[in-house]
Amino acid sequence: MPIKEISAESVRDKSIRHGHISTLHLWWARRPLPVCRAIVFASLVPDPLDENCPDAFKYAVEMLLNTGLGKLHYKPYKDIPYTSVADEMEDNHRNRLMMFIGKFSEICQANMIAGRSTPPKDQLDDWSLIKWENKNNPQILRIARELIFVAYQSDKRPDATWEELDAEFAKLYEAIPKAEKNLYELKDRYIETEKVKQLEAELQAAIDAFQNEMPSVFDPFAGGGAIPLEAARLGCRSYGNDINPVAHIIERGSAEFPQKYGKPIVYSVEEFEKLYGEEGLKMAQENERGITFDGKCYHIPNRLAFDVEFYAKKILAEAEKEVGYLYPADIKGNKPVAYYWVRTAKCSNPSCGADVPLFKQFYLVNTNQKKIYLNPIINGTDIQFEIKRGNCEHLNGWNNRGNLTCPCCGSLTSVNEVKRQFKSNGIPQRMVAVVYETNNGKSYRIPFKEELEIKIPKVENKPTDRMAVENNRNFNTPGWGIDNYGDMFSDRQLTTLNALIDKMNSLKLDIGESSYNTALLSLLAIWFDRIVLANTSLGRWHNGKESIEHPFSRQAIAMTFDYPESNPFCSSSGCALNQLEWVLRYLEQESSIEFPSIMYNASSGEKEQFSHKSLTAVVTDPPYYDAIAYADISDFFYVWLKRTLGDLYPLNFATPQTPKIEECTALKHHHNNSELDAKKHFENKLTQIFDAIEQQTSDVVSIMFAHQSTAAWTTLCNSILGARMNITGSWPMDTEMANRALGIASAALESSVTVACRLSERKGFADFDEVKHDIRQLVKAEVEKLYGLGFRGADLLTACFGQAVSVFGHYKLVETAEGDPVSVGQLLEFARESAAQALLEGVPGEPQTKFYCGWLQMNGMSECDFDDVNKYTRVGVNVEIRSLQSDRLLITEGNKQHLATAEEHLGKNETWGTQPTDYMISQVHRMMMAYRMGNQVQLLHLVRDLCPQSDAPQWRVLDFLGGHLPEDSQDYRDVKGILASAEMLRQKCKDTAVPTEGALDF
Ligand SMILES: C[S@@+](CC[C@H](N)C(=O)[O-])C[C@H]1O[C@@H](n2cnc3c(N)ncnc32)[C@H](O)[C@@H]1O
Repeated sequence: MPIKEISAESVRDKSIRHGHISTLHLWWARRPLPVCRAIVFASLVPDPLDENCPDAFKYAVEMLLNTGLGKLHYKPYKDIPYTSVADEMEDNHRNRLMMFIGKFSEICQANMIAGRSTPPKDQLDDWSLIKWENKNNPQILRIARELIFVAYQSDKRPDATWEELDAEFAKLYEAIPKAEKNLYELKDRYIETEKVKQLEAELQAAIDAFQNEMPSVFDPFAGGGAIPLEAARLGCRSYGNDINPVAHIIERGSAEFPQKYGKPIVYSVEEFEKLYGEEGLKMAQENERGITFDGKCYHIPNRLAFDVEFYAKKILAEAEKEVGYLYPADIKGNKPVAYYWVRTAKCSNPSCGADVPLFKQFYLVNTNQKKIYLNPIINGTDIQFEIKRGNCEHLNGWNNRGNLTCPCCGSLTSVNEVKRQFKSNGIPQRMVAVVYETNNGKSYRIPFKEELEIKIPKVENKPTDRMAVENNRNFNTPGWGIDNYGDMFSDRQLTTLNALIDKMNSLKLDIGESSYNTALLSLLAIWFDRIVLANTSLGRWHNGKESIEHPFSRQAIAMTFDYPESNPFCSSSGCALNQLEWVLRYLEQESSIEFPSIMYNASSGEKEQFSHKSLTAVVTDPPYYDAIAYADISDFFYVWLKRTLGDLYPLNFATPQTPKIEECTALKHHHNNSELDAKKHFENKLTQIFDAIEQQTSDVVSIMFAHQSTAAWTTLCNSILGARMNITGSWPMDTEMANRALGIASAALESSVTVACRLSERKGFADFDEVKHDIRQLVKAEVEKLYGLGFRGADLLTACFGQAVSVFGHYKLVETAEGDPVSVGQLLEFARESAAQALLEGVPGEPQTKFYCGWLQMNGMSECDFDDVNKYTRVGVNVEIRSLQSDRLLITEGNKQHLATAEEHLGKNETWGTQPTDYMISQVHRMMMAYRMGNQVQLLHLVRDLCPQSDAPQWRVLDFLGGHLPEDSQDYRDVKGILASAEMLRQKCKDTAVPTEGALDF
């Protein structure tokens, strides 16, 4: 796998917005599309250098990637750019296949070798399969689909030649566009005539004939739908399951409906006018979406997108007629963008009792160019505000984690008292500002009297669905008295949302029932969900971007004390039309693929769902224990989807809330409040699902896993082994954001490891010592390889787990010399130790540095008894203990000792660690101290003088420390901070001969 290239494009994928699947509807833990596409593709094609690779596939690679245009574009690198030594990549079929999946562009190769960075969009070559721009590229998709076709067919029919398969592919494949053309060019095809039915059947037959000869891919945990979307893009028959009805609607909206219905349509003038009337004509004339009129007919490139736009605008206009008066424009006609509210609490000082707004800060806008804030005017216990421009650093907020400091009398009201008030008397709130749109951008004013006094009608049908109050990790609002979904909205918001639902329901009656209309209404419901997200009383005003943020900045619903109540009928960001734009962009980007995925709303693990070995491959990304409470948090959407789509999907929305018990997660409040039951449930469910998959799948099962703890891996591996499979390969993908600003030391890793599993017969018994030997060797080789590819710290150690399990999984039982069975947990601990040991072997430098790293790895930073000889011997490096003490690497206090922190080691000495001849650990500690003190100039000098190249040993020591220091230590934060900006530091050293103060963007 070209893991460097996949990682680079995956990092980029996170910042792509326009038309990206993640912008259609919020879902949690989405996988980047390049990883999904690469894994699906790689799961379906053999290694051309493998001795068992069918000849026809080798020919296919030769013909498609090594002749014609492919010859030029998929030529392997002259010099592998991301490795430090100059090394050529052999021009063979395996490497050509990797270059097809992803290849760095010429410019990026040159930049990498020169140590320069390249803008993300230019990093991959334009001919790479996984590049964002190629998702609809007919030439590249055809190559990918043909390679998959040949791989699949030559597996079934080993005697088939490339020429035969190539001809068959062309025949089947080219029949589809012909059938599409026949249907899509037929005038007024929306009327179900015999001719239309015949052409539809012909198209379906062409698609089926092709897909019957392609592999089938299943994702049992489909979530937001990224994996099925990519499997279908590659021409496979693509299936997805998700237990969650919200995910199911998102999946259909992203991987089924656009591909099925987002197609061209031709209307005669009469039919067009009949269907769309004046409004439709206006839309056609405005012609923003490629609509053409040839004098007789309207040609619409995407029927579904056109209808979604047309009906959404209709619904919106009708709703505005009814409730638009709730958002009055000012006398100049400026519409409000949002009303800015703050919740208040009573000062608990009985002689004061002021109603104090719970502001944490006062900025409405806080950017370098524009600063606007609410300036308090206090008269006794009366608190009013004016809007001022400029800095308000002098104003301290009145709310510190819910504790209130009264600006009138200075008394403190505790958070518990504020919560008590909210719970017993409701939550008082005040409108303090109005954001409105002018020709010069957003403006801010104090609300008019009419705005404060506007009468909101009594809300009918307020949702009363309960939040998961027992889940206090993801829901903290119940502690403040907001414990049902209806309370997340103001009355005005509910009135508007209800009006939109009414209009949507009338539309349902108008257009009647059909599969197409289900698709249309589902996308309108997805649009509606986007509106709901922007219209809660738990959203936030982003004063840097002057925009509305939805409540799910984390995977949780959290309390907010001030919030923007947006106007869906304005034209500013966050408004309903803007939400529509996101939906349309997605439809426009993803409709050209011919193959819809088949999505089921089902709990996975049913053995009857697919017949024996009827699936070719499974590619999936399972949940992990309690990391994300999908069902709990998605109830937010369920409440509304039940109202917009409940009648169209009666079975999916039959339960009062999302199904919880069968979800493959470990949330104790779903399992009798028992942590043990929850854990058991998760493990059993995962095993049950893998077990069913193993029976249903004939080829590889690829599992993406983004967790690094040994415990997480133990569960995953137990389930894989328990389902009679073994791991046959593993690949880490590093999707961490590159160029992280120096100083953000948290460096949350976001890499994932994909393991490939296959059915494996486990034979005989093995001795742990022998298995250990094999594992050590495999892991060592893997560490070296991955280190060279830039993997570090915990990621690097985790990435070796797959290798270790693959050895273990050959045997029925592995036993220790004493005859005790070895568990997967023990095995992974050993693998982690071997990986760390292999890293330590690579730790450069003199024995003192090796000792420091070895001690850290074995004993950590904690104190231990001075005469615990064991602690020394385990390190396995021979150095004089006395010299370690005098060098201040081990700090001894009485009968105890511990490893020195950077500060303890260097103490007041100002020169240790500044020279290349000093201990490596001293040099690294010096860099850490320079970073800690914010001494940018010294840090740059150190990098320049000691380690200007990325393969300099100091970086390896830093990596080692990063993987072993306790995460809550200052040393750890310093190491992470330096590593996060290593690229930039080395860059700066090259760019400027003598770094000066301020040269870095700290
Ligand atoms: C890690 S997410 C998948 C994310 C997905 N790969 C994406 O890119 O959007 C895991 C999914 O598994 C689903 N899930 C949990 N338990 C399940 C079960 N028993 N059967 C089917 N799906 C389940 C959750 O609802 C969640 O959407």
